[in-house]
Amino acid sequence: MTEALLIRGRLFDPGQGLDRVGDLLIEGGKIAWLGEPGLAPKPDVPVLEAQRLIVCPGFIDLHCHLREPGQEDKETIASGTQAAARGGFTTVCAMPNTQPPLDSGAAVDYVLKRATQEGAVRVLPIGCITRGRKGEELAELGELAQAGAVAFSDDGNSVADPRLLRNALEYSRSFGLPVIEHCEDASLSKDGVMNEGWTSARLGLRGIPPAAEETVVARDIALAELTGARLHLAHLTTAGSVELVRRAKEKGLPITAEVTPHHLTLTEERVMGAEWGWLGRVPPRHQPLNSCAYDTSAKVNPPLRTPADVLALNRGLQDGTIDAIATDHAPHRLVDKLCEFDLAAFGISGLETALAALLALVHIGELKLETLIEALTYGPARILGRDTQTGLREGAPADITIFDPEAQWVVDPQAFASKGKNTPLAGYTLRGKVMATIVDGRLVYKDDSL
Ligand code: DOR
Repeated sequence: MTEALLIRGRLFDPGQGLDRVGDLLIEGGKIAWLGEPGLAPKPDVPVLEAQRLIVCPGFIDLHCHLREPGQEDKETIASGTQAAARGGFTTVCAMPNTQPPLDSGAAVDYVLKRATQEGAVRVLPIGCITRGRKGEELAELGELAQAGAVAFSDDGNSVADPRLLRNALEYSRSFGLPVIEHCEDASLSKDGVMNEGWTSARLGLRGIPPAAEETVVARDIALAELTGARLHLAHLTTAGSVELVRRAKEKGLPITAEVTPHHLTLTEERVMGAEWGWLGRVPPRHQPLNSCAYDTSAKVNPPLRTPADVLALNRGLQDGTIDAIATDHAPHRLVDKLCEFDLAAFGISGLETALAALLALVHIGELKLETLIEALTYGPARILGRDTQTGLREGAPADITIFDPEAQWVVDPQAFASKGKNTPLAGYTLRGKVMATIVDGRLVYKDDSL
């Protein structure tokens, strides 16, 4: 723990309507004081000069894949949390599609122990809904909750059996934890590799229709209404899904939803190569290797969709239908992606590009900075029941992200801390860079230029 540290910068906290130049003092892992420049009660402490930088609450990622245990060649808790720190994330929720899956108290305990030993940032494990993620019988939800799971999910798959999901929702209520659903009807998406539509037809690739997601979203909303349980919908991608959630929220149902940075900034056309499908409007400088047609770095599940869907996701974020932005960081090995499109793994390594990609939307006037920061901080914190521990306020844990909204950099996956180099943004020039990340008062990442 850093003993004491004074940060001078632009203090930005949308949850408190705070946006002013000031000083922030960290002591004993907590925010001890914040106020006018030069008035800190303890002036003789090390100073982090962040004058032209934004100092905001630490980002929280509701959805990432750390791959440990079992797939340490793709990622480890050490490498994944270092990537998180570089991306400005102070807390990450680890999805349970590991090998073995996190379906027992012992498995959750293992992740927490590894995170204590090796983690650069806070790791909150998510337990499985069903044993082995097989969708056949419920996991021991009580045991998972007791071990420290913060939610339940079979991410990667939906729970196909509605009765089983109903039971999971009913049990989850008694633990006060949300169920996180990956919404995909496997029979509708079967063998699909990208969004179904004009682009998939042109490329001759099998498509995944929006209805594969929307039918499950509609079913799950009905089950949330039936049980009164907290249901969180992961990585929504279609205009139809946003509309279903909007209507559910109007009815007062306890539904929350997330969207990923890639679904907010890229369209299905990105599959055709690096110069396609990027909505940031700054022309990417692509590396030739990544500009082939059928670019597997853009293969992700759920798939990148159409411009109309992207617009609807953005609107949903702005009007509060979508509660949070989550990375769905899904690291893979080179061999998992360097192959035929049909055979390539689904997933994007997203922790280290999330902020800069999203800031492109702010720079072109499509998203407000406060909406973006809210969706990376208070939005996920509320879903986890941690909003009272979030924010730039005295007494709160010193979880802080410092970034330069203007600094330009070229995305070089080889420089990632993540073992997953699989990004569709390789070679893109992005504007906005994380400069420092502080967890519980500890400086866990600092850019060389700071
Ligand atoms: O693209 C994806 N990759 N979507 C998922 O739901 C799972 C993830 C993974 O684990 O690789």
